[in-house]
Amino acid sequence: MLDVRKFPKGFLLGSSGSAYQYEGAWNEDGKGPSIWDVAVHEKPSRIQDGSTGDVACDSYHLYKEDVKIMSYVGLDFFRFSFSWSRILPTGFPNCINQAGIDFYNNFIDELIKHNVTPFATIYHWDLPKQLQELGGWTNPDVVQWFVDYAKVLFDNFGHKVKIWATINEPSMICLGGYGAGLLAPFVNAYGIGEYACAEHVLLAHAKTYRLYHEVYKGKGKVGIVLNTHWFEPVTNSKEDKKAVSDIIQFELGIYANPIYDPCGDYPEVVKKRVAAKSSEQGFPRSRLPKLSYRDLKLIKGSADFLGINMYSTYFVYRNESVKGSYHVPSSLDDLEVGFSITQRPFSVATSTNPRDFYKLLVKIKKLYNNPTVYITENGLSNDGGLEDDDRIEYIAGHINALLDAVDQGCDVRAYSVWSLLDNFEWLFGYKNKYGLYEVDFSSPKRTRTPRKSAHFYRNVTQSRSIERCDL
Ligand code: FCB
Repeated sequence: MLDVRKFPKGFLLGSSGSAYQYEGAWNEDGKGPSIWDVAVHEKPSRIQDGSTGDVACDSYHLYKEDVKIMSYVGLDFFRFSFSWSRILPTGFPNCINQAGIDFYNNFIDELIKHNVTPFATIYHWDLPKQLQELGGWTNPDVVQWFVDYAKVLFDNFGHKVKIWATINEPSMICLGGYGAGLLAPFVNAYGIGEYACAEHVLLAHAKTYRLYHEVYKGKGKVGIVLNTHWFEPVTNSKEDKKAVSDIIQFELGIYANPIYDPCGDYPEVVKKRVAAKSSEQGFPRSRLPKLSYRDLKLIKGSADFLGINMYSTYFVYRNESVKGSYHVPSSLDDLEVGFSITQRPFSVATSTNPRDFYKLLVKIKKLYNNPTVYITENGLSNDGGLEDDDRIEYIAGHINALLDAVDQGCDVRAYSVWSLLDNFEWLFGYKNKYGLYEVDFSSPKRTRTPRKSAHFYRNVTQSRSIERCDL
């Protein structure tokens, strides 16, 4: 007999996408350009297959078909993002693009009609171009620009959308976009940019949270979506173990601590390490800007749920080889930890072990006093094909790990597969396939075809249960 396990009552199963990766219609109906529109049109291209998100899945035109698919798969919710520059072409609310408002209204209505709860992300990486010209996430004014934009969303969609994530993956935005210069807007301001950005992201998030609850008296939920890996020490040495606890604080804690810690503020180890390095490097003060008492108060407690995106594990070490191996200054140099996706020197461990997902959830429970967690992204990419047993195994394993964590008392209430459709995977273009549905990007119709994993996931949503598997 099959050993099946049921989801707890009220548990939500969904899938995720984002505006730039799905919509296409990059310059249609009054939409303004975003930093990704700019990035993908640069020559030579930084995108691995030279592609753009100009058309992507063409969901701007095909959204009704997408919702049918969601309904077939039996999603409780779909997590999508608003394109800031489709709503406000210049980024500012003096000029609202009605066609953008209409598009999202139609899309949300279609979701609701099909009993799929809309789960909206306010910002998933596509900053309006004009705001970047003013410094983007490193300009303190971005906090107010963001809140103004969020207000337009609450005004227009607040009566229909009840689950809101403010910002997707601050650490990718800040470290990728303004530190290492690896993601749009490709600003290389290592050691300064990522910390300035972090402060503004936290404040923009917290002010939006307060706006929703205090001004709108919103009945829904507002959270933030943080990305994190699980981290394993490469050896059992004291140094490697400390490297693990430090990297957790630099990746996750820098955003989660100010929201969840009873004293608020950035993690002690982050404050200490950045201050020490800054002073060694001759800076007059820490490159990590101080959060004022007012800011700390504003940020503390500003989440009804913690969205977590988790895909894989890093194997982590701290030894002589790491010293001086990163750009100076940079947050990676501040942290001074080496990491890789395979366990050196043996390369035996896999970086996508579901057991690690369980460990992460238990760790989050401990670190942040058992917050309400929604898994907002988790999934596997491969090279394509409809027989995606590898993806099924990955998702089944991770859901089992999640249910084990729930059995341990972790307050995890939702799980979302990245992604419903193959889509534009940023620097990887269309090479990395994450979809439960294959999309034929060579066809103008962008034909969607269910993979084996779509049927598998439908089975899970319909039976509200999953076969038990050993992790
Ligand atoms: C995450 C992003 C998401 C998607 C997945 C694969 O970092 O939030 O947009 O690209 O990775």
